[in-house]
Amino acid sequence: MKINSISHICCIGAGYVGGPTMSVIADRCPDIEVTVIDINKDRIDAWNEKDLRKIPVYEPGLDEVLKRARGRNLFFSTAIEASIAKADIVFISVNTPIKSKGVGAGQASDIRWVEASARQVAKYAKGKTIVVEKSTLPVRTAAAIKSILETPNKNISEDESCQRFSVLSNPEFLAEGTAIKDLEEPDRVLIGGDDSSAIEALKSIYLRWVPKEQILCTNLWSSELSKLISNAFLAQRISSINAVSALCEVTGADVREVSKAIGADHRIGKKFLEAGPGFGGSCFKKDILNLVYLCNHFGLPEVASYWEQVIELNAWQQQRIYRTILHKLFGTVNGKKLAILGFAFKADTNDTRESPSLRIALDLLEEGALLSIHDPKVSEDKIFEDLNRNEAAWEGKWSYVKTISEAVIEADAVLILTDWKEYAELDWFDLAKKMRAPAWVFDTRSIVEPSQIKSAGLNFWRVGDGVN
Ligand code: UDX
Ligand code: UDX
Repeated sequence: MKINSISHICCIGAGYVGGPTMSVIADRCPDIEVTVIDINKDRIDAWNEKDLRKIPVYEPGLDEVLKRARGRNLFFSTAIEASIAKADIVFISVNTPIKSKGVGAGQASDIRWVEASARQVAKYAKGKTIVVEKSTLPVRTAAAIKSILETPNKNISEDESCQRFSVLSNPEFLAEGTAIKDLEEPDRVLIGGDDSSAIEALKSIYLRWVPKEQILCTNLWSSELSKLISNAFLAQRISSINAVSALCEVTGADVREVSKAIGADHRIGKKFLEAGPGFGGSCFKKDILNLVYLCNHFGLPEVASYWEQVIELNAWQQQRIYRTILHKLFGTVNGKKLAILGFAFKADTNDTRESPSLRIALDLLEEGALLSIHDPKVSEDKIFEDLNRNEAAWEGKWSYVKTISEAVIEADAVLILTDWKEYAELDWFDLAKKMRAPAWVFDTRSIVEPSQIKSAGLNFWRVGDGVN
């Protein structure tokens, strides 16, 4: 397929991936018009908010990018038909949740939104169009997209219709909280496909700011699989170090020292070795479950159970932390006030999907605890929605607080569950005076200095610490 030059890009899905990714592409390619479309009008309206504090995704640096590109060559719109019609490239960046019903329920990815997007492209695209999978997808999804796109269209001759589309895989490796930096300085850009002209066209966009050695081209299936495997490897490291954290606690070792010692070996490397309350986020669990499903589907149950263990260990770590809190507070938290610091799944994001905080908070509410919840970026409405999604109403059992000093008043314990920088800089002498003695601090993120907590007269527990 011959594409001479790219002048219009469209992205379906204005979420955590589509929004920031297209913002950076528009910023780096001022001559290309980039339109992000979404079926959710509220979301599009929020992306068009004048007040940049109200845009739907919080990412450091995103506001600056939007200031430069929005309204110039970056647009957020619900005009699905028109935006697809003028695009040379359509990115599909819709959500791919785990199926809740039917074959593969609880494991397989639900790709119905991807299929719906492919159908929209088949219907509205004009001329030659490159379709790019941005969403993380099960291996061989591109085949399904291709077959939808290649279904003869009664308005177009069969010959023309077969040559209209080219499908590429171009997974996104950004992490939330560092999305802009990850997009501006990616370790690599991965493009999978078999149409060299389409690959060159997509490559030409990234080449504006990414060195050519960092743009890797593979076949479609390697690209789709590499995305799943990257996430599985990262998650596996976290489960490994969390398993070690439990061992440290009973042997008198310190997981921070162990991480440093093993990470100093450059073959291992020091990243992703921080023990914590287990990994959260929209990707790791979903992608590994999907990998497990694929392995079973292709008759590899041993490979499936190897990866499944990464998820099991993660759930165990969250449960272990909740049980430790219960045990330290004399076996009961019923009627006790606990201050939860952090509801986002990691610092520098307002995303709470699969947040360990949510799981731990629900377990504590189940035990009768009264929670006061603080997070610098997650709104009260979001916390309300998350806590009430599958459970009984927890009305009167939790409150949202704007300040940390308010959170700790008469609290029996403070639980640090997200690694927000401001939680590392607290005045524990001041906070201790407001709490109910004997009060505890549980630091699941290793961000406070133990000596400060102890000299403030507070009891202290932190993950993987067999010394304190
Ligand atoms: C992304 C990826 O696309 C997903 O595959 C990956 O595994 C996680 O990250 P994300 O951007 O985080 O998803 O999802 P979300 O924030 O839910 O955004 C998806 C958007 O697509 C939503 O705004 C939704 O309204 C929109 N959408 C969904 C459409 O516009 N059309 C549809 O048919 C379905
Ligand atoms: C991840 C991948 O990093 C990214 O490449 C992919 O595109 C999407 O999934 P994300 O989920 O946004 O990104 O954040 P990440 O920084 O990977 O953190 C995931 C979870 O692991 C968080 O809950 C984080 O707190 C936790 N984590 C991370 C640890 O517990 N320890 C670590 O050492 C690192």
